[in-house]
Amino acid sequence: MKKILIILLTIILLVGCSSKKERNYFKEYSFYKKEYLDRYILYKKNHPDYSNHDIITFVNIGLDKPFYTNTKESTYLNKKEILINKYIYVSKDYKPDNLVLIEKYSKPNLYLVKEAYDAFIEMSEDALKEDLNIRVISAYRDVSYQENLYASYLEKDSKDIVDTYSARPGFSEHHTGLSIDIDNIYTSYEYFEYTDEYTWMMDNAYKYGYILRYPKDKENISGYKYESWHFRYVGKKIATYLHRHPITYDEYFVKYIEKN
Ligand code: DAL
Ligand code: ZN
Repeated sequence: MKKILIILLTIILLVGCSSKKERNYFKEYSFYKKEYLDRYILYKKNHPDYSNHDIITFVNIGLDKPFYTNTKESTYLNKKEILINKYIYVSKDYKPDNLVLIEKYSKPNLYLVKEAYDAFIEMSEDALKEDLNIRVISAYRDVSYQENLYASYLEKDSKDIVDTYSARPGFSEHHTGLSIDIDNIYTSYEYFEYTDEYTWMMDNAYKYGYILRYPKDKENISGYKYESWHFRYVGKKIATYLHRHPITYDEYFVKYIEKN
């Protein structure tokens, strides 16, 4: 009996020590959240090959839980730093302030938040100086637009497939008025990556505060298939950082924007 008790106590002590050690490792990171400690430990158990840095980043994004679970409403409304993804939404009636009509380099009747609009016009004008055409084909979308779009996709693909390329209503970054889908006038947007305009955007968009929001090989983090045509205005400082460090905006947001 005494022996069993000693063994049990030793096990409890060992487990206690190792979780304390883990806790201290995780604490080294400024974006560590103590209320997520159990999630970090569990996620690390399931992904022993991930660094502690990545464990914290991914759990903070919400990636230890399935997409569209544990969702929360954004508290960054009307801020250019807002993150919208499969864990963070805006309410159905949210309409960004300062939406303006895109008067040129655009299909008709499309709107963007003024700051994103000004940057877009400057960017398109500079591209045009090099004989390159950057045209907006989709910009601000309200919830009913996204509802119709998502429903129309469901008519041809299963929900699992649609979720890989279309946001559910309320969860679309287009709802923020800070995102644009673009083409070069001549080629369908789906082939944008093969155009000179795409190459130019990849080299220059950050100078105007735009980033490619759903990059290649980042589906597991962004939640969406690569979209060579979808750009997001985040401002020059963040865009320059992301140009130099190939991480997603989801990762950037939980590391540098979101407050503990
Ligand atoms: N295609 C992007 C993910 C959207 O629907 O907002
Ligand atoms: Zn888009």
